[in-house]
Order: sequence, then C-alpha cells, then structure tokens
Amino acid sequence: MADFYITTAIDYVNGLPHVGHAYEKVLTDVIARFRRLMGDSVYFLTGTDEHGQKVQQTARARGVPPRQFADEVSAEFRAMLPRLLISNDDFIRTTEERHKRVVRELLQRLFDKGDIYRGEYRGFYSTRQEQFLLEKDRNPDGSWPDIYGEVTQIAEPNYFFRLRSYQEWLVEFLARNEGFVFPRFRQKQVTEFLKDPLNDLCISRPRERLEWGIPLPFDPSFVTYVWFDALANYYSAVADRPGVWPAALHVIGKDILVPPHAVYWPIMLHAAGLALPRGLLVHGWWLTSGAKMSKSAGNAFNPLELVDEFGADALRYFFIREMNVGQDGDFSRELFLVRYNSDLANDLGNLVNRVLNMTSRFAGGAVPAAGAEGEAELELRALWEATSRDYVALFGQYQFHTGLERLFAFVRSINAYVEKRAPWKLGKSADPADRALLQTSLAVMAEALRLASAALRPVMPGATATIDGVLGSRPSGAWLDELAWGGRLAGAKVSPALVLFPRPLPAAGKAP
Ligand code: ME8
Ligand code: MG
Repeated sequence: MADFYITTAIDYVNGLPHVGHAYEKVLTDVIARFRRLMGDSVYFLTGTDEHGQKVQQTARARGVPPRQFADEVSAEFRAMLPRLLISNDDFIRTTEERHKRVVRELLQRLFDKGDIYRGEYRGFYSTRQEQFLLEKDRNPDGSWPDIYGEVTQIAEPNYFFRLRSYQEWLVEFLARNEGFVFPRFRQKQVTEFLKDPLNDLCISRPRERLEWGIPLPFDPSFVTYVWFDALANYYSAVADRPGVWPAALHVIGKDILVPPHAVYWPIMLHAAGLALPRGLLVHGWWLTSGAKMSKSAGNAFNPLELVDEFGADALRYFFIREMNVGQDGDFSRELFLVRYNSDLANDLGNLVNRVLNMTSRFAGGAVPAAGAEGEAELELRALWEATSRDYVALFGQYQFHTGLERLFAFVRSINAYVEKRAPWKLGKSADPADRALLQTSLAVMAEALRLASAALRPVMPGATATIDGVLGSRPSGAWLDELAWGGRLAGAKVSPALVLFPRPLPAAGKAP
C-alpha cells in the first residue's frame, strides 16, 4: 500500500549523470520526504532508461556490447543517489525482466484490442544516423544537414498505436482535470498541442535496424519504440505491489511533457484499462550561460564535485532555494557559492555556533527553561507562527524556493534577536532580572533553531540531523507537532561546538 507513489523520469544511459539529473532526483526526494513527514505512506521510484538507438550507437562506438555499456552507466546513476541523500524505495532498469514482462503484456493487450495495428511507415531516412528524420531536421533552405549523410525516402512495415482514436477522450480528461499538469501554463501547452489532429504513433522498429529493445510479443522481428518501453516503467515497477498504482505524481523535465508524458502515457494507460496518474510536475532546465546543460551539448557539470567539496545538503539547498519549480534556472559555481556563503555558512552556520557556544558558556551546556517572555521573544514567536504555517502551505504547492526564502528570513531574525538580547552582556551582569533574561534568551534561541532545523529536514536531511544531534534534540511524534513552538529543549545537553558549513577557500588565482 502507498498513499503517495512518486517517480522521477528514468535517465538515458547514453551519458553520465549531470546537474539536471541530480536536480530532478533531489526535487522528487524533497517532495517524498515532505509527504512522509506529513504522514503519507510514500513509495518513491527512480531508475534508468536503457534501450533504443542512442544507447546502441554509443555502445557500438565504444566497442562494448550494449548490455555491458548499460550496466556500467546505470551503475553510475544508481551510485549517485546515496551521495545526494535520495530516499528512493526502488530503482528500476528497463533491461530488467520484471519490466520487460509488463511491457510485453501491455503490448499484447493493446494488440488484442485492436489498438495496435500493422501499417506502413514512410519517411526520410538517414542511413548514417540510422534514424528517420522529420521536417524540423531540415536546414532552413530545405536541404538535410551533413551529419545525416545520404538521406533517402523509404517505406517500411511497422506497427502503430491508435493515438488518434483517444484524442477526444484526452481533451475531455484535461478539461475535467485542470490541475493535472503543474504548473498550469504547461497544461495549456498540452491543450494547444491537442488542437491539431494526432497521428497514430509508430511503436515498432525493425530488428535488423535496432536490436537493442524489447521484441514485440506478437511479431518478434520488431522491437518496441523506446518511449513505449520507457513510460511503462512507472507501472511495471509496482505491477506486483497491490495498492501502489496509480502514481500520485510523475516528476519530469519540460522537454518530455509533450507528447510523451502528457499524450502517449495517459492514452496508453486508458487504452489498457489502467488508472491514470494523479498529476505531472514539470520542472524547467538548469542553464549555463543561457544554454541547456546536457550530455550532448558537452556543457554538463558533474554535481558530485560539489558534493565532494561542500556536502550533499548544500547542493540540495542550492537546487531547491534557487529554482522556482517550472521555470529555468542558472547554474554556476559562483551562484552556488553566493548561496552557500550567505545562507548556509553565514546565517545558519553562525546561528548554530552561537547557540552551542553561548549555551556552553552561560548555562553549563544545558538548555535552560524559558522564563517570562518580553516583546522580542513574543515577536520572534509570532514570526515563527506565520512562517511555519506559510512554509508548510508553500511546500504543499511546490513553492519551495519561496518557502525557503521565508524560512531563512526567520533564521536571520533569530540572529537579530540574539544581537538584540546580547547574552554576552547579560552574562556579565549580577542583576537577577538580567540573569532571568539570559536564561530566557538562551532557551528561545535554542528553540527557534530547533524549529528551523525541523522545517528544513526534507531539504537538508543530513545537516538537520546533525543540528538535532548537537542540540540534544530527539525528534519524535508528528512533524506538524514538532513544528509548534514549545520549549522542547529545556534540559537538553548541547555539544560545545560544530562547524556545519565551513567557509570555502578562495579559488586559486581569484581575489578572496
Ligand atoms: O528524457 N535541467 O532521459 P534524459 C533540468 N529517458 N533537468 C534536466 C536537464 C537540465 N539541464 N537535462 C535533463 C529522458 N534533465 C528519458 C526519460 S521517462 C519515462 C524517460 C531532465 O536522461 C529531463 O528533463 O534525457 C528528464 O526529466 C530527466 O532529466 C532525464 O533526462
Ligand atoms: Mg534528454
């Protein structure tokens, strides 16, 4: 059983993981962790997409069998997950038998119903690239780019899936489910796309051209088209787990919404008599100097280098704080360092140090109980009440960047509160009123930090566990209860010091 089945796209194994892949995993993980904290039973799937022309070609170019090549690259994607603190429950590979079996069953079911039929595919074919070309592949003057070599018009028998028969159904489905695709403007793109008549989808490739695929159960001289194969992963991974399907959410990038996820997939499921996912969450791209970061463009950045240098939590924070889900975002080491230095090293890291240091110096390392609260305490508490309420609501609406912006405004307010109360001055005073205020201020700053840390848990699972540890906090009970201001740390023993986000050394050759 699962109330909330969530998936990422499965990555092509024709190149190594880059920032775009890492981001999608982290975004999905933040949602999975958030839903778990909200009390849902979550099932989280990710994996690799391993069949098709591109993988066959890349493997051939390296002189290794496609299976071996796919094994090696898939292992790289899988190894990235723990490094990013991803809490997936399963990892599916489209080369696994459990997947291939379900794809064969789906194909057979649709064939038996008459939704898959044999026909003839005509088009322009590049023998050099071993692919059919589309009108959009032409040069502006109508000629074919040199990379395609000789281009000929060919016709070959193939199998087709009756997309056209389901077009009206899909249009009505989208009209009835306006929130199916998030953000809304992306659903409008789907509706626009559906204004033109759909062509039936060619779902086969002759085996003599493409061996690296799943043979059609009703005609093994063909393998199935890679998208038909890949989309089925979401279902094949849980076909044997009662109560998991349908997915609550497929998290994907904007390049694979129309037509695969918004047209092929709903129609495949509907035609096969299976329930539809409840929603699609479509994120934008990470760009470097305005261009999409990608394996093929060669401008990809290895996310694990930043993890080695700054830790997974810092990269996760950057991804989630910087990207407005659905929009594009700029990625660079410089932008990363700005966030790291200001939010993590300065605001949060300093606060942790202050709480530990002052609790040790002025209270023997045990968080005191709060006494009477003054205006500054009441203000901070009121700010927390508004912040936490909005934060949870914003996370529920995928507005993570705004949620984090608010949360860090709260962290800065805790620091401002500390400046205002100046425990280091109160600690020198013999006045009993000052001594009482010292206790209260130490209690309040520790409690406020505990709350901020609890809120940040879905985004920074490692760092927040460390903060809880040094605060002597033992999270228990429902998360929303944990997020209530409550002086829960009274009596807790804190650690003397912790450098959570060390300041990076200035890059060689650059001014500090
Ligand atoms: O499309 N920024 O695989 P893929 C953000 N196998 N996201 C990015 C990105 C970038 N620069 N580059 C890629 C495929 N992505 C198919 C999916 S699902 C049944 C099959 C995202 O390796 C991209 O949008 O090309 C997609 O969601 C995911 O990474 C995998 O891309
Ligand atoms: Mg891609």
